[in-house]
Amino acid sequence: MTTTLIRGRLLSFHRAPMSIDDSAAYSYESDGALLVAGGQIVASGAYAAVKAGAPQDVAEIDHRPHLIVPGFIDTHLHFPQMQVMASYAANLLEWLNTYTFPEECRFVESAHAERIATRFFDEMVRHGTTTATAYCSVHKTSADAFFAEALRRDMRMIAGKVMMDRNAPQGLLDTPEMSNDETRAVIRDWHGKGRNHVAITPRFAITSTPEQMEVAKSLVREFPDLHVQTHLSENRDEIAFTCELYPEAKDYTDVYARYGLLGPKSLFGHCIHLSEREADVMSETGSVAVFCPTSNLFLGSGLFPLRALSRRDRPVRTSVASDIGGGTSYSMLKTLDEAYKILQLQGERLNPFDSFFMMTRGNAEALSLADKIGTLEAGTDADFIVLDMAATPAMALRAEVVNSLSDELFLLQTMGDDRSIVETYVAGKPAKSALAAA
Ligand code: GUN
Ligand code: ZN
Repeated sequence: MTTTLIRGRLLSFHRAPMSIDDSAAYSYESDGALLVAGGQIVASGAYAAVKAGAPQDVAEIDHRPHLIVPGFIDTHLHFPQMQVMASYAANLLEWLNTYTFPEECRFVESAHAERIATRFFDEMVRHGTTTATAYCSVHKTSADAFFAEALRRDMRMIAGKVMMDRNAPQGLLDTPEMSNDETRAVIRDWHGKGRNHVAITPRFAITSTPEQMEVAKSLVREFPDLHVQTHLSENRDEIAFTCELYPEAKDYTDVYARYGLLGPKSLFGHCIHLSEREADVMSETGSVAVFCPTSNLFLGSGLFPLRALSRRDRPVRTSVASDIGGGTSYSMLKTLDEAYKILQLQGERLNPFDSFFMMTRGNAEALSLADKIGTLEAGTDADFIVLDMAATPAMALRAEVVNSLSDELFLLQTMGDDRSIVETYVAGKPAKSALAAA
């Protein structure tokens, strides 16, 4: 087994920072190292100490003066929407009907799904995202293409075949029975293979009949360890239409509650317009509200109330995500840059330690995977990235006057993108430079 020593400045979080001065929330090593073997971080800490415990002939990679952080985690995106990004629409429902649904129809073709899956993973690696929670299309072919590529690259990925049986073009509809059979087939074929996780994925209440929601309910009962993902309370017209379709429900959240879809492994994209009652139910069930800043701005959906949700007496768990292709960037740095601005517009602050916590350990906790990803702790997956705060001439000029770690993180978040990702390590192997070399 090859053992590698990777040297650089290390930053890894233990918990959410309570303020910009809360240095107990993280570990920072100004001359640190990771010892990597068998795809895992074996040791982590000060360079001298880690080197002393390493084999004599260990191969060493020196990334100084750059910063090493855990690989970014994106908790909500749509892999079949790479060619939907940057589509000109007035709002969510117009965007879905005009661009998104027609494009997703193409994923019935394996060749197309495979081509886009390859490009998708290339972009993840280029942008420093080592784990993502993805929607495939309704077609099993799309899930097969996605998981096969994740397995080939040995990446930890969560994804699901979308379940949808109404209010979309014929080429994008399954039936309750098909969604049951195909979701089970995807679980059988891919869950636990390599680092693949399958998520039960009813798209949203508008595109599922009550019969299909019953199927989702029974799948969640039968596979309680699996993640569940759907959309909730993104847009006012979407909410009104949902309430028309499910008149017996108290509100949008209650639709999902009635079908047993809330819980600590459940991720709800958007949650912008929840009532207090809905937020209480989210809190009681440990469900996660997923903040998708670039998408929410692009589609004009609204301002996610991050602080209002997380500071209530009954707090709601949150995570952050790109929501490609409603989102406008693969970069989690850009995503957090827009998150910052959304909080500014609500008179709230998002300090740079908060942002880096959210992209790493915070999102890992939201996925109940913090024992495997999201930190640089020994015993976790060796998925980490190397960041350069002077990646462009404009950043280099600004970096001349940076004199603290928080300044550096804020510069990376505000001006950085894929060019700031010097290297992306996946299971201990340099994957970004391998792309360039291929
Ligand atoms: N709601 C249902 N489907 C989608 C989707 O693909 N993107 C977004 N942003 N919202 C949705
Ligand atoms: Zn989405």
